[in-house]
Parts: sequence; C-alpha cells; structure tokens
Amino acid sequence: MDRQTDITKRVLSGMQPSGLLHLGNLVGALQNWVRLQDNYDCFFFVADWHALTSGYADTSALKNNIYNVLADWLAAGLDPERSTIFVQSMVKEHAELHVLLSMITPLSWLERVPTYKEKQENVRGKDLGTYGFLGYPLLQSADILIYRPEHVPVGVDQLPHLEITREIARRFNHFYGDVLSEPEGLLTKYPKVPGVDGRKMSKSYDNCIYLCDPPEVVDKKIKTMITDPARARRTDPGDPHVCPVFDLHKIFSADKELDSCAEGCRTAEIGCIDCKKVLIPHVLDILEPIYIKRQELIKHPEDLESVVRKGSQKAITVASQTMEVVRKAMQI
Ligand code: TRP
Ligand code: SF4
Repeated sequence: MDRQTDITKRVLSGMQPSGLLHLGNLVGALQNWVRLQDNYDCFFFVADWHALTSGYADTSALKNNIYNVLADWLAAGLDPERSTIFVQSMVKEHAELHVLLSMITPLSWLERVPTYKEKQENVRGKDLGTYGFLGYPLLQSADILIYRPEHVPVGVDQLPHLEITREIARRFNHFYGDVLSEPEGLLTKYPKVPGVDGRKMSKSYDNCIYLCDPPEVVDKKIKTMITDPARARRTDPGDPHVCPVFDLHKIFSADKELDSCAEGCRTAEIGCIDCKKVLIPHVLDILEPIYIKRQELIKHPEDLESVVRKGSQKAITVASQTMEVVRKAMQI
C-alpha cells in the first residue's frame, strides 16, 4: 500500500492511565503515534473512564496517573501543535454516545468479547461483575465512533474491540440511516521488548525500564539485566538467540554491532558487560532526551493542564458535531 500522506485523514487512539510508561510502551505504541503525526489528523486521549472499569475501588492515583501519562507522551514527541491531545472524561459527549449505543447493543455481543471472560477470571482481588466492566468495549466504541476516524492504531489485543465497534456502527446505521462510519484498525507490528528479568516488559512484573528513569538508572538496569543463563562464567560461550539483552540489541543497535556481539558471544571473546556496553548508549540516545524533556514538563504542571484543556476543547467541537447528527438521526 502507498504511504498515506493525506493529512485530512483522521487517526484516533487512546491509552489507559495505568501508570508510568516504559520502553515497551514506547517502542510498541508511542513511537508509532509520534510518526503518524506527520501524515494524519491525530487524536490521542487518556482513557480515564476505562481505568475505572476495573479500578473503581481505589481512585486515589488516577489524577496523578493521567498527568504522568501526559508527561510521558509529550516527552516522547507527541506534539500538541499538531495532534489533538485530550482526556476522555473532559469530553462528556463520549458518555452520551455510550448510553445511546447501549440501547441497541445486544448483551451477547459484549459477553462474547474474549477479553471479558478472560480478565474476569484472571484478575484477582477485584469484583469485575459490574455493568461498567461488561460495557468496556462499548465505551471504547463510543470513543472511536464519535470522531469518525479512518484509522485506529492499536495492538493485536485490541482487535476484538475494534470488531465490535464496526458491528455497532453497522447496527446503528441499520436502524437510523447512514451516520457512523466503520474505522479500520492500524496494526502496529512491533518487536518483543523483554524486561530486565527476561519476561515481557510489564508493569505487573516489576521488570521495566521507565521513560522517567534517569540515565544512570537505565544504565544500571541494563547492566544487571539477565542474559543467557548458560553463560555462568565469562569463558562460557553463549547463545544470543536465547538472550533477552540480544532482543534489545535487535531493536536498538546497528546490524554491524549486532553481528559482532553475536559472534563475540558465541566464541566467548566478549563478556556480557562488553556486550551491554554496546547496547546502553543506543538505548540512552533515545531515553535520555525523553528524560530531560520530561523533567522540564513536570516542573510546569499548569502547562500540561493547558495542553489538555485546549485539546479537549478541540475534541468537544468534533464530538458534538457527531452527536448532533446522531440525535437527529434518532429523532431526539
Ligand atoms: N482499550 C484500550 C487499551 O487498553 C484503550 C482505549 C480506550 C482505546 N478507548 C480507546 C484505544 C479507543 C483505541 C481507541 O489499550
Ligand atoms: Fe547476551 Fe550479549 Fe551476554 Fe551473549 S554476550 S549472553 S548476547 S548479553
């Protein structure tokens, strides 16, 4: 497919404010969002209501998390001059569309979304037998349909939510005429980012390199990161293909360095620290400017607030246009 350069085409995506963003979020989603800004009319929002669907019992960290996510976003290169950056709860139209869509949504559609039963069974210590949790994908449908985006960049895990969004749009149009358009997913294929313990980088594993980690912490985390367990001694040859550090090399280092580290590893010519010393500057090339910018941003929380206030105003303008058409179509 041709590279899309039609700036009038809209892209929308959201993220739950579930804590500090890490290297996996950066490579998996955020860097892609930053690139999309060149070619699309981008809308990015913090899905704070979605965080409540499973985190309703303790809301004390929510506000803080929202501002941390925003700081991470802007530090990583989301640009409020080019993108509309906002907070879901500041655009009440999402809630109105959600309630209207709920009238036409068969319960069975929500019950069969794979993430529903999965999460309900696997998440311990939380009662997810709530209406809000069941309605999670429908709220997401409202988030999306209200901006009529062409594309929604998401990871594979979100595809079922996109599918139900398209089905809801079709059902709405079947009852009330051609109003809502069906968005396309924009699958980001991204490399697997291992955490410092070798498992997938994830907040719940406590194995993350965070965007807000100072360079010396990043350095230390990588230096103590797990490697091929067969290399117990410096003289033991290793296998790069079973080494999580090498997975990071593949993402951040140049091909030449990759080859020479792999060769040195297999022959035990280099030690793991030598190998890591090749990787670390590449990771810091990316993370250090983000860290510096983030430090600046959190010094001025009022600026972050003004960014989302303006972004939310722009979002409200678009969302209320859709709502007018929706109300008219439903004769309310
Ligand atoms: N469910 C998404 C996630 O957990 C977040 C989200 C909410 C979203 N509303 C959205 C993503 C609308 C894209 C579009 O990642
Ligand atoms: Fe991993 Fe590099 Fe050590 Fe080999 S030398 S085990 S690739 S860190």
